[in-house]
Amino acid sequence: MTRREDMTLTSSGYFVSQEAPIAAANPIPRPAAAPPDILRCAYMELVVTDLAASRAFYVDVLGLYVTEEDDTTIYLRSTEEFIHHNLVLRTGPVAAVAAFSYRVRSPEDLERAVAFFTELGCRVERRPEGFVKGIGDSVRVEDPLGFPYEFFHQADHVERMSWRYDLHVPGELVRLDHFNQVTPDVPRAVSYMQSLGFRVTEDIQDEEGTVYAAWMRRKPTVHDTAMTGGDGPRMHHVCFATHEKHNILAICDKLGALRRSDAIERGPGRHGVSNAFYLYLRDPDGHRVEVYTQDYYTGDPDNPVITWDVHDNQRRDWWGNPVVPSWYTDASLVLDLDGNPQPVRARTDASEMAVTIGADGFSYTRRDDDEAMPEWKQGEYKLGHQL
Ligand SMILES: [Fe+2]
Repeated sequence: MTRREDMTLTSSGYFVSQEAPIAAANPIPRPAAAPPDILRCAYMELVVTDLAASRAFYVDVLGLYVTEEDDTTIYLRSTEEFIHHNLVLRTGPVAAVAAFSYRVRSPEDLERAVAFFTELGCRVERRPEGFVKGIGDSVRVEDPLGFPYEFFHQADHVERMSWRYDLHVPGELVRLDHFNQVTPDVPRAVSYMQSLGFRVTEDIQDEEGTVYAAWMRRKPTVHDTAMTGGDGPRMHHVCFATHEKHNILAICDKLGALRRSDAIERGPGRHGVSNAFYLYLRDPDGHRVEVYTQDYYTGDPDNPVITWDVHDNQRRDWWGNPVVPSWYTDASLVLDLDGNPQPVRARTDASEMAVTIGADGFSYTRRDDDEAMPEWKQGEYKLGHQL
């Protein structure tokens, strides 16, 4: 819990403080072993139930590049990527996430990953030949939060497609930007991720110090992954970046033209958190994909940590547009290392949806306004059946 009096209120409406604004009441013990030196989020392995439908979505609609494919698996990458893939689509009986994969700096970091997670008592599996094509020696773990995390260094190189303007589409996805995970106890998740070497860049809290979500980075952007408070472990979304805002609008136009506007769940809009322009889509299995652009540099050691008030109605959409309920409630299952869905545990802390749009929830646009939001604005979400 961070005390508001230890934070500085900015003219933009959020608070700033220094690293570690979140203290866990029930932390995961910090291993004595050093963590692996993680470079960045690198790829996600997704299990899909209809490979042809998923291919149509990720390749034909979103324009990801096919590095390699066969009857069961498709390896996809974004424009600027030079390693084999950023997304693996593998056919299976239950739509779920098989791996959140991070690239580490050196082969020796794999030894560190084994030691770190073994000390945590986690199940650890190392395959010198890798778990998927294009990726060498890899370590997969069932992490302390129940997520399937992978670490690798060696990867096959492929051509960067940045100069192939002849192949680019108006909504070009240029990089994998981040993952987003759902977990019941955000402070506990943050303390574990900090022991793994991640730094918090932003979070959402209430005045009592309940933490609803936190964003954490290794690469010098707002995040490589975020922890969203909710029933978990589940995967909230995987996110690709575009160069510009207009690329995101082009994706919306294309989905409309294809009569696939039902794939648009939320947005386009401007986030408060991260300051990025965003769009949330749902793939044919319901896996959530974000398209995102123009967050900010966070690489200095004294980068200020931003805390948003959960009642600030600009925190998740800077224009005050409502968050749809499905965005709070829906997420994808994650698999254990045997390929079975991990059981989901309920969040016991207050839910963000309940405190902002529930019967006794409230939110504000201007912190010190005495007047409540107009009645038509209260509730702060789109009803599913509104005209
Ligand atoms: Fe995101």
